[in-house]
Amino acid sequence: MPAAPATLVEIIAAKRDGAPGDPAAIERLVAALMSGELADYQMAAWLMAVFFRGLSDAETVALTDAMLRSGQVLDLSRVPGIKVDKHSTGGVGDKVSICLAPLVAACGVPVPMVCGRGLGHTGGTVDKLEAIEGFRAQLDASDFAAIVERVGCCMIGQTAEIAPADKRMYALRDVTATVECIPLIVASILSKKLAEGIDALVLDVKVGRGAFMKDAGAARALAEALVRVGTRAGKKVVALLTDMDAPMGVAVGNAIETAEAFDVLAGGGPADVVECTLALGAEMLVLGGKATDTAGARAALRAAIASGAGARVAERMIEAQGGDPRVVADRARLARAAEAIVVVAPRDGTVARVDALAVGLAAVAMGAGRSRADQPVDPAVGILVEKRPGDGVRAGEPLARLLVRDRSAALPIAERVRAAFTIDDAPPAPRPLVLDRIDDRSSTPAAGSG
Ligand code: URA
Repeated sequence: MPAAPATLVEIIAAKRDGAPGDPAAIERLVAALMSGELADYQMAAWLMAVFFRGLSDAETVALTDAMLRSGQVLDLSRVPGIKVDKHSTGGVGDKVSICLAPLVAACGVPVPMVCGRGLGHTGGTVDKLEAIEGFRAQLDASDFAAIVERVGCCMIGQTAEIAPADKRMYALRDVTATVECIPLIVASILSKKLAEGIDALVLDVKVGRGAFMKDAGAARALAEALVRVGTRAGKKVVALLTDMDAPMGVAVGNAIETAEAFDVLAGGGPADVVECTLALGAEMLVLGGKATDTAGARAALRAAIASGAGARVAERMIEAQGGDPRVVADRARLARAAEAIVVVAPRDGTVARVDALAVGLAAVAMGAGRSRADQPVDPAVGILVEKRPGDGVRAGEPLARLLVRDRSAALPIAERVRAAFTIDDAPPAPRPLVLDRIDDRSSTPAAGSG
């Protein structure tokens, strides 16, 4: 007689006891969560068991698949070409998506991008785009597909229909201390990205003070797991490990970050923002079949900047999404708080460090970010980080500028921004922006992966 299928309690107990991985059990568990058969406290118990016991790659693939199938999977089959997206694990001043998607689209690779909102010290692309007058980030699936087909890229916010199981599970992880678990993070990220109907994905896994992963070893393990599981799910996946110790670029805030991304499309912008855009964009063009190597891809991206083709795609995308396209050429149309508080260097020396976490938290305190998912953000406020690690400074020279609405209320925050700068006598050791590259050939198999 065949064995009776395991009950939900037996599935939880098997994970608790470290029994061999069972992908079918995971599908059953997620389906039971969504149907109401499995209570939240039972899922929370299973999540804690996973935190200690881990998941094999086969189980992580099954979890990813079950989570993505808990909602709508966008159908982009009408869009010709290899559709490629980029996902960043989040940082401070990371506005790269806003210049990257139009540039890659201008080079012929369709980019369907579902973006996040800021939470905690990290900013979110949707908040930055919504700083554009009229811009609509909540579109339905058919409008999204139509804009990707017509313009080449479309950038929208997460919808309730995309991977609802992730929303339920993330809320439980958040309150049960089970967020920091690599297989759960991998399934959470990939379920949302694969629901977009993409063929390939480039991941920007950030490392350092301003990143979700502060430690290079943990970030590498996450990047490798994302590449392995994404590849097993049938997608082409590459991950870059990039530095997020200091804020990226100059601008930290919503409208000012959007303006800085448009500076890149106009041929300017801070060197690190340009380099991150080119490094990620080159991987996207190669995965999308529009370049045979990253050197050729970089040349194509630079040509799309020089010709203005990337900027034109950005204008068309913004217009298609209800926004004012004139902001791409005329950044002064974006909101900017009128008052500025200048933070100055207390002594002569060299900037050794700018603590991205401290700057990100200061921006949240100013109203540029949110500490609860339902809070609004102020598009006009932010911080201009004018000195970077390695820059020489004289006492009294500006380090940063806070753009604020109310000077006196922001003075304590200015003090926190000043404390984010470490000034030393000797210059710091240079840190490369791209720390590593991981693809399906360089990713090492997980211990015990099935
Ligand atoms: N980002 C996600 O989308 N999910 C996680 O679990 C962690 C970071």
